[in-house]
Amino acid sequence: MEPGFWHDKWQSQQIGFHQADINPFLVRHWDALGLAPDARVFVPLCGKSRDMEFIAAKGHGVLGSELSALAVEQFFDEAGVTPKVSTQGEHRHYAAEGIELVQGDFFTIDPELVGSCKGFYDRAALIAWPAEMRIDYANKLAALIPSGSRGLLVTLDYPQEALSGPPFAVSADWVQTHLGRHFEVTALESLDVLADNPRFVKKAVPWLTEAAFLLVRK
Ligand SMILES: C[S@@+](CC[C@H](N)C(=O)[O-])C[C@H]1O[C@@H](n2cnc3c(N)ncnc32)[C@H](O)[C@@H]1O
Repeated sequence: MEPGFWHDKWQSQQIGFHQADINPFLVRHWDALGLAPDARVFVPLCGKSRDMEFIAAKGHGVLGSELSALAVEQFFDEAGVTPKVSTQGEHRHYAAEGIELVQGDFFTIDPELVGSCKGFYDRAALIAWPAEMRIDYANKLAALIPSGSRGLLVTLDYPQEALSGPPFAVSADWVQTHLGRHFEVTALESLDVLADNPRFVKKAVPWLTEAAFLLVRK
């Protein structure tokens, strides 16, 4: 989606994607990544996700990328901490308690910044892009992530014609075909989550699955 779409969502607080609780797939599968506790973790399109607090509580430094200044400010406000803020080129950096959020466009993030990350976490980032922009996102992610880095990807899949995204449907085949160019892909879990998603039930979407994948950058 274009930046204006997301700025409007944050401005009007239409942020149905935001989870009050930690993502259950993250809780169940994070340890399977086998990251050293001091490994830094990149979180693209992070919003104000509390999942970053879970990752930081494991001992990891967290580097998030987020377009919206409102999202970044709400993240630190809600965590009850005051970040140090600096400007680096076109990005603003907010840092506190081992979590650094880079506010600005993901596509213009300097690979050097992410070069120290050995882990990554994508929940509702890949699926935020319509099919025609998803490949660009995947290519940029692969360009940023150092070889050998291990990450957890959480996706949603449903019949796309039943609902207009975001979130957009991403199948296990899509992940294998397109991310498989850059990453070793292992499917970890796929669950029927239709009953937990009233928006999909209301629109009579016939099925909805949430899936987790382990990705290792080649
Ligand atoms: C669907 S939300 C997911 C947020 C978060 N991952 C979560 O689980 O709550 C997608 C987020 O990506 C951000 N975003 C969209 N385009 C972006 C871009 N080009 N660069 C950085 N962030 C972007 C949006 O502002 C939004 O917060």
